[in-house]
Amino acid sequence: MSETILHATNLRRTFSEAGRELHVLRGVDLTVRRGEWLSILGRSGSGKSTLLHLIGGLDRPTSGRVVFNDETDIFTLRGAKLDRYRNAHVGLVFQQYHLMPELNALENVLIGAMLGRGLLAWPGHRRQARERAEQLLARVGLSERLTHRPNKLSGGERQRVAIARALINRPQVLLADEPTGNLDIDTSASIMELFHDLHREGQTLVMVTHDHAVAKTGDRTVTLSKGKLAGD
Ligand SMILES: Nc1ncnc2c1ncn2[C@@H]1O[C@H](COP(=O)(O)OP(=O)(O)OP(=O)(O)O)[C@@H](O)[C@H]1O
Ligand SMILES: [Mg+2]
Repeated sequence: MSETILHATNLRRTFSEAGRELHVLRGVDLTVRRGEWLSILGRSGSGKSTLLHLIGGLDRPTSGRVVFNDETDIFTLRGAKLDRYRNAHVGLVFQQYHLMPELNALENVLIGAMLGRGLLAWPGHRRQARERAEQLLARVGLSERLTHRPNKLSGGERQRVAIARALINRPQVLLADEPTGNLDIDTSASIMELFHDLHREGQTLVMVTHDHAVAKTGDRTVTLSKGKLAGD
């Protein structure tokens, strides 16, 4: 059995809203193995995005740990180490894409390289990053859209820019939040095809979805319900 890449233990996340406490995650345990494609299934509001943001180091839990590569509890990371974790060790495709509206497709992907490695850190990186960004955009079928800003891209095209951005630093784990949630059947199929190709190349994938059929395309499905995860 392959090695563990991410291990979450007893993750809890409680939100306080208007004086009331909302216990969204109530003790989530999760193991992700290198090279696997894990689907996290759950109804709307079950806490899938909350969980993915915690795993991605964008939010902090009320309690619990996420250990990466058997060494670090990511919630102890600060500063540059936390930035590197968020931007290079994992890559996150947000449910709402979160592209920068004033930047074109190529620049949106390059931003990922800048955040992950420090684009100006060494000469030559800039050209190398640009080449990789162009290759990734070609791979997701957007070679003809490099200079389009997000408002001139379709939803599926925005999604693909977001995927290219998440991949720019060759993350060890790709986290994808409802990657086909807003797309038509054909566009969804092409995104899933891309994920299959990445998976075949060894990419570890954690994909969140409310769609059983989409979840089944992965190796393994766990379901988030009432704040806890259960296996398939
Ligand atoms: N910052 C916040 N403050 C207060 N409540 C929050 C916050 N973020 C999320 N919630 C609540 O936590 C619950 C889970 O939200 P989350 O976005 O994780 O659900 P989800 O499973 O991703 O849903 P969907 O499938 O609709 O995307 C929701 O009821 C939401 O209102
Ligand atoms: Mg969500």
